[in-house]
Amino acid sequence: MSNSDASVMNEAARRRTFAVISHPDAGKSTLTEALALHAHVISEAGAVHGKRGRRGVASDWMAMERERGISVTSAVLQFEYRDCVLNLLDTPGHADFSEDTYRVLAAVDCAVMLLDAAKGLEPQTLKLFGVCRTRGIPVITFVNKWDRPGREALELLDEIEHRLGIRATPVMWPVGVAGHFEGLMDRRDPGFVTRYSRTAGGATRAGEQRLPITRSLEQEMTGLLSSIEEVELLQQLSLDHEQEAFLAGFSTPVFFGAAVSNIGVRSLLEALIDLAPAPVGRFTEDGGEVPLDDEFTGLVFKVQANMDPAHRDKIAFVRVCSGIFERGMMLAHAGTGRPFTTKYAHSMLGRERTSVDRAFPGDIVGLVNAASLHPGDTLTEGKAVRFPPMPVFAPEHFAVVRGTDPSKSKQFRKGVAQLEAEGVVQVLMSDRRSGQAPVFGAVGPMQFEVATHRLQHEFGAPASIEMLPYTLARRTNRAGLELLGSTHGVEVLQRMRDGAFLALFSDRHRLAFVARQHPGLMLDLLAAQQE
Ligand code: G4P
Repeated sequence: MSNSDASVMNEAARRRTFAVISHPDAGKSTLTEALALHAHVISEAGAVHGKRGRRGVASDWMAMERERGISVTSAVLQFEYRDCVLNLLDTPGHADFSEDTYRVLAAVDCAVMLLDAAKGLEPQTLKLFGVCRTRGIPVITFVNKWDRPGREALELLDEIEHRLGIRATPVMWPVGVAGHFEGLMDRRDPGFVTRYSRTAGGATRAGEQRLPITRSLEQEMTGLLSSIEEVELLQQLSLDHEQEAFLAGFSTPVFFGAAVSNIGVRSLLEALIDLAPAPVGRFTEDGGEVPLDDEFTGLVFKVQANMDPAHRDKIAFVRVCSGIFERGMMLAHAGTGRPFTTKYAHSMLGRERTSVDRAFPGDIVGLVNAASLHPGDTLTEGKAVRFPPMPVFAPEHFAVVRGTDPSKSKQFRKGVAQLEAEGVVQVLMSDRRSGQAPVFGAVGPMQFEVATHRLQHEFGAPASIEMLPYTLARRTNRAGLELLGSTHGVEVLQRMRDGAFLALFSDRHRLAFVARQHPGLMLDLLAAQQE
C-alpha cells in the first residue's frame, strides 16, 4: 500500500458526512448552529443561519429567501470534532424544494432525523425517511424541543416503531416530561444524570454537570423516579442500541434535547462520531464497486448558480467518493469524456468561500465555472465509471412560463436551458406550444417563483407564470403523444432533459379513465413522489 493509499484510507475513516432531515420548523437551522457551536466553528449561535432577526445571513443567498426566512439552497458545513472531520450538508427547509433534498441525500452516509417533541413524525419527515430507507442510509433520531410541553417519550418511540417500521433504541433518556426538562440519562452510563445550565438565549454552550443518581434525588429532580422506571422498562423491552441493526437500517438510536438551549447536542455530536458510518466504497451504475483508495471519483449532487451576486458563476457541489482530490487536477466527465479543470475549488459555509487544496472521500468540494456539469454527473481521474443516476421526480405542479420582453427572447431561452440543466424545474415542450412559452413542471409551486426570479435577475429576461390545471404526470411514448393529443383534460409534452414524453392529467379520475381506455400506453405508472 502506498503512502497516499494509506492516507486516503485513514482520512476517509475519520470523515462523517451527514444531513439533517426534518419537517419545516422542527429546528434544523437551530440544531445546525448548535452543532457548529459545540464544535467551536462559531462562538455564538446566530452566525450560520441567521434566521428571523438573528445575526448575519450566511446561508440565505437570494433576496426571496431572506424575505420568507427560508433557505432554498444547500450549503455545506465542515468542522472538526475530536479526531474526526464532519461534513454537514444543509437541505432546503421548504417542502417545495424536496427534490434538492433528495439529491443531497445521494451524497451522505448518514442522516439525523429531527423531530419536534410535540409533533412527532410529520409528513415531510416521513417522505425523507422513505428516501433514506430506499438508499440504505442509517438514521439517528434527535427529539428536539424537550423544553416545551410535548408528547411522552415512550409514545414517540412507539410512533417511530409503528409508522416507520424500525426499532427506536434510545441511547439518551430525558429526565422530566417535555416542558419540564431536568436532565438526561445516558443508558450506557447507568447511575448518573447530566444536568444542564442554560445560557442567555442559548447563544453559547450549555454548562453540563454529571451527578450520581443519589445526589440528583437529593436535588429533588421531580421526574427522576419515573425516568428510572422508564429506563428499566426499555431494558426489559430490549430496546438497546445495536450497531449492526442501525447500520442495516433496522433500528435508529434516539437522543433527546433542546437545540435552542444547546441541551443534548453534545451527545448527538458524539454519536455522529461513535455510531455514524465513515465513507465506504460506492456502487456504480453497472453494479461494480469503486473502492475508497481507487483513483479520484466524485459525484455531482447539486449545481447552483448565483450564490452571491458578487460572483455570478455556477458551482457544482461534488462529493468525493474515492481517491484524493487535489486542486488543479485534471478530471474527466464520465459521461462525455470531456476534460474538466479544477483550478477553482472551494468549500462553502454560507456565503463564505475558502479554497480547498485537498479533499478526501466524504468531503464536499464546490467547483466553480461548472456550466457543463449537472446533478448526477460523475467526475473521474480518467476511469470510465458512473454512479447511479439521481432520482427524478414526477412533477405535481405545471405552469406556462412566458418571456414578457420580446427583445430578450435569447436571454429567456438561455435562462430556461440553464434552469433545466440545474434541475430547478423540469422544462416540457411540445410542437403545439411556442418555444417562448415552455411548460415548467415542479414538485412544489415555490420552484416557479425561484425560476422566474432567476430569469429576471440573472438572465435579464422577465417572465410571467400561468398555472395549468394538471396535477399528475405519467411517462408515455410517441404513440401516446398521438393518441392522447386530442383527449380532453390530457396533454402530452416532451421533457427537454431526456426527450421523455410525459402525459399530464388534471386528476386521478381522468388518469384512471385514460388508462382503462388505452391500456398499454402508460409505460410507467410512476410512484407519486419518485420516478
Ligand atoms: P427549521 O430550520 O427546521 O425550519 O427550524 P428553525 O431552526 O428555524 O426553528 C423553528 C422554530 O423553532 C424557531 O422559533 C426556533 O427558535 C424554535 N426552536 C428550535 N429548537 C428549539 C428548541 O429546542 N426548543 C424550543 N422551545 N424552540 C426551538 P421561531 O419562533 O419560529 O423563530 P426564532 O425567532 O426563534 O428564530
